[in-house]
Amino acid sequence: MRLFIAIEFDSAVRGELAGLSDKLLASAVSGRPSRPENLHLTLAFLGELPAERLPAIRQCMAQSAAGELEIRFDRLGTFHRRGGDTWWLGVYASPELMALEARLRAALISSDFSVEDRAFRPHITLGREIKMPPDFDKNAIERPTLTQPVHEIVLMESTRDGGKLVYRPCVRTVL
Ligand code: 2AM
Repeated sequence: MRLFIAIEFDSAVRGELAGLSDKLLASAVSGRPSRPENLHLTLAFLGELPAERLPAIRQCMAQSAAGELEIRFDRLGTFHRRGGDTWWLGVYASPELMALEARLRAALISSDFSVEDRAFRPHITLGREIKMPPDFDKNAIERPTLTQPVHEIVLMESTRDGGKLVYRPCVRTVL
């Protein structure tokens, strides 16, 4: 199973994020938007693991829970890729969010999961392989105004349904 731990958005916030992704893609020369139902914030990417590891992951998630938090959105940014950039919306790195990710990371490491050691950069991928015209001004794009209260973290399985990338929730842990 290809697994990651994420924060999901409710439908109103997802609608705003999908609208933002549409606006970006409307300005682009080419690119692939994220499917609206796939918009999420990843806290930890676990990679390919056997189903027997699920109870240990559930335990790490439970150990990391220390109360609800709120997500606010920050600036638009890119990861440069050869075939076209990944565009994302940044999430404000609040002390509560950063502490949640740090607790999760520590719990996973102490249970022998391999977690990438690069720094956590909270972001929501809006589209991939995007080529923008040279005069594109990202500051002209309006960003979401809603905030997202977060009550739980979710272990997701990343699968393919036909050619479609589908994220399936497998474990939910209340914060
Ligand atoms: P991304 O959107 O920036 O690609 C499922 O793939 C989720 O896990 C995505 O949110 C993805 O982030 C994240 N992720 C983090 N590290 C990853 C990796 N090494 N390979 C694939 N996805 C990764």
